[in-house]
Amino acid sequence: MRKIRTAVLISGRGSNMAALATAAKSEHYPANISLVISNNPNAGGLAKAGDLGVTSMTIDHNQFSSRRKFEMALDAALSQAGIELVCCAGFMRVLTPWFVDRWKNRLLNIHPSLLPKYKGLNTHQRAIDAGDKEHGCTVHYVTAELDGGAAVLQYTLDIKKSDTADSLAQRLLPHEQKLYVKALKKVATELLSLS
Ligand code: GRF
Repeated sequence: MRKIRTAVLISGRGSNMAALATAAKSEHYPANISLVISNNPNAGGLAKAGDLGVTSMTIDHNQFSSRRKFEMALDAALSQAGIELVCCAGFMRVLTPWFVDRWKNRLLNIHPSLLPKYKGLNTHQRAIDAGDKEHGCTVHYVTAELDGGAAVLQYTLDIKKSDTADSLAQRLLPHEQKLYVKALKKVATELLSLS
């Protein structure tokens, strides 16, 4: 069975990446995790990728004189590896319209809120502070507007009275991982049907 060659971009611990790479090992999953790229040389996810037998590399944004040059290096590495679909998972760089346009409809992200609520950072605390009863996560297409692209899938979680930002983040994380596995399956299946 043909699988969509997929890369995961990370900056940190890489638990969503590990969930995707683990799911993709299954014969019938429609995507392969062919490459992991971190912009942070100290990302814990790099070791996780190694443990899972996935090729990884660091492209450190600090080594480039401009955002565009960093993104050109990223784009070149993805193209060289024959990547067809890119999943951002805890990737902490804002991508410019140039990059986003090159990967249009082939660039996903996971965001820890029920978008369009709480774009940007500190989503758990903001949901608690607003007195929300529900919180969640969204896998969405990346567009030039931060956390603004169309949703692929969402998961909703009840907020408990006792929740703190940390407890909420911790309770949400396993659901993020499952949601991303489902969303990548959906998008890769669609791409396979087009190819
Ligand atoms: C996740 O909570 C994700 O929603 C957010 O950053 C976190 C990344 O976690 N964008 P991990 O690196 O996948 O463990």
